[in-house]
Amino acid sequence: MSQRSFYPTHAENRMRHEGDIAGARALYFNRPSANLRLLLRHRYEWMNQFIGPDDEGIEVGCGTGLSKEFIQAKKYYLTDAADFDWLDYRHVDALATPFADASFNFVVASNMIHHTARPLAFFGEMQRILLPGGRLIIQEVNASLVMRMMLRLMRHEGYSYDCNVFDPEVICNDPHDLWSANCAIPNLLFDDMAKFEQHVPAFTSIHSSFSECTCMINSGGVIAKTFYIPLPAWVVRLMIRFDAAMAGRFPSLVAMQRQVVLQSRDAEGASATESRQRLPFQVESPHALAMRLRSAA
Ligand SMILES: C[S@@+](CC[C@H](N)C(=O)[O-])C[C@H]1O[C@@H](n2cnc3c(N)ncnc32)[C@H](O)[C@@H]1O
Repeated sequence: MSQRSFYPTHAENRMRHEGDIAGARALYFNRPSANLRLLLRHRYEWMNQFIGPDDEGIEVGCGTGLSKEFIQAKKYYLTDAADFDWLDYRHVDALATPFADASFNFVVASNMIHHTARPLAFFGEMQRILLPGGRLIIQEVNASLVMRMMLRLMRHEGYSYDCNVFDPEVICNDPHDLWSANCAIPNLLFDDMAKFEQHVPAFTSIHSSFSECTCMINSGGVIAKTFYIPLPAWVVRLMIRFDAAMAGRFPSLVAMQRQVVLQSRDAEGASATESRQRLPFQVESPHALAMRLRSAA
């Protein structure tokens, strides 16, 4: 499938209820399908291994705020550029937040970076509000072959590789449209981590993994909704296991989501290995993590 730029308009979207965050949240709390419940559990639970018990953190661009059902930190606050009842902080633009320097041990950014107009400004702001050694925990879209096919089929969001995400002058999304999206942004940022760290030296990467294919296609949609086949939990668990194995082996073909954890460099500019060793808790190997989440899913 072509990597040629693809930009459907909102009117062309074949999914229903695009941007209906309140509706998606209500649906989740009103008996969600096993398909969606297990998908979301798998999407957020892995993050807990990068969060210490006394850590304080926020999610930027939290949308439905469902991460709060899964993140175990006691001091965890929801923020979004929008204005929802369940937010702890409203109208928080992740590119220019109201928080003081060095406020948080961790920040969660789930499927919001591909909506940002200026990715470099986002990382600058995250570095400012994180404590030295703090973690930016990222869950993002991965524009694999299957993902690009699904985007073209559903016309849900677009992608373009013709965008220099490392140029602070380049505008990568419409800054006046919170739902403007370029699903290639995470690939442009993270596929070559050495390039990322060269352009964003404030962070070092301490984790990278891939997930989701069939379980995302048959989830019915996290916010925008579409057709899906409701399945018993044990079948969804099997699909999640199958996806994890396939996405890890063939990320550019099948993985529809990816996970990245960046650590804000401390004053000594520690390497990735040193940074991992200095974490106040033990981080599991990607393999051990996958096994634990599979058996818990
Ligand atoms: C696709 S939703 C993801 C919601 C949630 N994090 C999740 O994973 O389900 C993107 C969210 O990012 C928010 N958003 C977009 N641009 C933003 C910005 N510059 N600052 C803060 N939030 C932003 C939108 O309002 C929306 O709620």
